[in-house]
Amino acid sequence: MRKLLSDLATPLPSATGDCVDIGEFRSFEEFETKYVTLATLLGRVRKISPPGELEFLHAMVDLDEVRYPGGIGSRDYFFLTALVSILAPRRVIEIGTLTGFSAAIIAAAIHRQHGNSGGISVETIDARTHCGVDETRPIGFEIPALVPDLASTVRVHTRRESDFARELAADGEFGLAFIDADHRHPWPLLDVLRLAPYVQSGGWILLHDIQLGTHGQKLRETGQSMESGTPYGAEWLFDRWPFRKIRSFHIGAIELPSRKADLIPFSLSLLEEPFEISGNAAKRARRALYQSLAELI
Ligand SMILES: C[S@@+](CC[C@H](N)C(=O)[O-])C[C@H]1O[C@@H](n2cnc3c(N)ncnc32)[C@H](O)[C@@H]1O
Repeated sequence: MRKLLSDLATPLPSATGDCVDIGEFRSFEEFETKYVTLATLLGRVRKISPPGELEFLHAMVDLDEVRYPGGIGSRDYFFLTALVSILAPRRVIEIGTLTGFSAAIIAAAIHRQHGNSGGISVETIDARTHCGVDETRPIGFEIPALVPDLASTVRVHTRRESDFARELAADGEFGLAFIDADHRHPWPLLDVLRLAPYVQSGGWILLHDIQLGTHGQKLRETGQSMESGTPYGAEWLFDRWPFRKIRSFHIGAIELPSRKADLIPFSLSLLEEPFEISGNAAKRARRALYQSLAELI
């Protein structure tokens, strides 16, 4: 705690960070134009989408009618694809696998950049063994159907949480992380803090459902609600992120500071927001958060 408090003396870079909103990817044409915008923002000015990328996205969109619920929608996986394609990480970690839809999207985008390297390119972690949307189906079951040639490049870890990252990589080894698990505050923050040491310095973490709380509030104002709940955890985290960030509709990427201990003041201030979990789960999360913060020093 003494170390954490002394780090509080470090001023925040800015109250809410520089945010660029590149808008929704509503069509294939927008995929191409926004790809260029995103590449420029990420300092890869001349980067273009590789052969086969648009065809792959067409094939995924064709599945929309028959897809399992719970996975990311097309506007979000267009952004995910563009981000992976531009940054071209060799290894990505995902928290929240469900059917494996987004893990397959990531694996395919990595493969288009690096070909078949023969190794694991995506580590995806889920707390459950079977899908909440269909209890008869194991976590990650869609991966072999969606990307048959790449199934062996995705490793699914069930009954695990983000703390398992330390078993999968050395410091700074992941080129990108995608967090799409428990959206209740403070879980998204805990996931970020647990992954941060293993993501490259100055690397990016992608967060899903960064407008879920506000969306739920609007629904409630019109007398509607969502069965799955509409927590604010990812939204507060994204909105208050004090470093660079890029948003596109429900999904947003946050850039890690080069000195990871710089996350501490921001995290402590976000921890003052009321938790959206209670009882032992809240106590366990608070302990885990302090532990993760201490490990950043
Ligand atoms: C929204 S779904 C993920 C969807 C997936 N990313 C996709 O787009 O295809 C969220 C998943 O996170 C898992 N989950 C919930 N809390 C978790 C936690 N603390 N750690 C790891 N996984 C968690 C759930 O079991 C669920 O399968």
